[in-house]
Amino acid sequence: MKEKIQEIKKDFDDNLKSVSDLKALEELRLKFLSRKGQVTQLFDAFKALPTEEKKLYGKEVNVFRNTLQTKYDKLKADLEAAKVDEKDVIDLTLPGRRKELGSLHILSQTLYEIKEIFKSLGFSVYIGPEMESDHNNFEMLNFPADHPARDMQDTFFINDDFLLRTHTSPVQVRLMETSKPPLRAIMPGKVYRNEAISAKSYCLFHQVEGLYVDTNVTFAELKGTLIAFAKQYFGEDVKYRFRPSFFPFTEPSAEVDLWWEPKGKEGRWMEILGCGMVDPNVLENCGIDSEQYTGYAFGMGVERIAMRKYGIDDIRVFFDNDKRFLTQF
Ligand code: PHE
Repeated sequence: MKEKIQEIKKDFDDNLKSVSDLKALEELRLKFLSRKGQVTQLFDAFKALPTEEKKLYGKEVNVFRNTLQTKYDKLKADLEAAKVDEKDVIDLTLPGRRKELGSLHILSQTLYEIKEIFKSLGFSVYIGPEMESDHNNFEMLNFPADHPARDMQDTFFINDDFLLRTHTSPVQVRLMETSKPPLRAIMPGKVYRNEAISAKSYCLFHQVEGLYVDTNVTFAELKGTLIAFAKQYFGEDVKYRFRPSFFPFTEPSAEVDLWWEPKGKEGRWMEILGCGMVDPNVLENCGIDSEQYTGYAFGMGVERIAMRKYGIDDIRVFFDNDKRFLTQF
């Protein structure tokens, strides 16, 4: 009996050494520990022994079986812990995932370029809020009480006194109220209009306001500055025209059109800005002596400028967030 136990033990230990995966371990279990395994057979042989010998070997056989079982259990636990889930295996031959790089929106790029040109012409940058008082947006700018721009059709009112600014001109007021001339600044930002959305107009767009107040500022300087801007931005051969116009807060007033020939379409004039000499009433409203100072102002549409530059004929594409459009710039 003793020899038999030793024999099985040696055999088991030899086999155990070569077990490197769960499949081989299962073979080991079948060979030794299963119902038909060698250890079980040992028990059968034991049962057949005379009582004397049973006493002698009973404990030994039990301990032996438990030892093998313990060794088996430990190796099984180790193999299971070391087992690598297939989904965790990294396949180094797979192509990588490309990270998409973001870029500045075309309007941000355009605004940036406009700002750079005016900075080089001596303008600083000043910012005002998008929610404005009716007072700054209209009253201070000489809009008569019944002016159509105050109509519910055009303005997003927040309450009786506040609204979403319909243009960047109220920022002129804020600047003139808080600083003394000479003043030379551009004021970029979003403006809002309650208009039907179409290829030509959107409920929100961007403007760059400009203001220059000093002694002896003339309309010729206004013209010179705007032409210098147009040539720098669109090129020396840009075709432009100044057209007389009307704004309550400038006198005289003008609008500037650029000649535009969209590909395959007939050429036409496209309005890109309004401008004029600051109305003396506006200067006085803001506490600036209109006998001593004069000024010019302009407000340009950033979308229009980008449309003219890149040949875009629908303003809505700026706001659709369609990557096919955005990634072109
Ligand atoms: N605020 C005017 C508009 O939105 C543009 C403008 C600005 C005109 C400054 C004259 C002077 O249409």
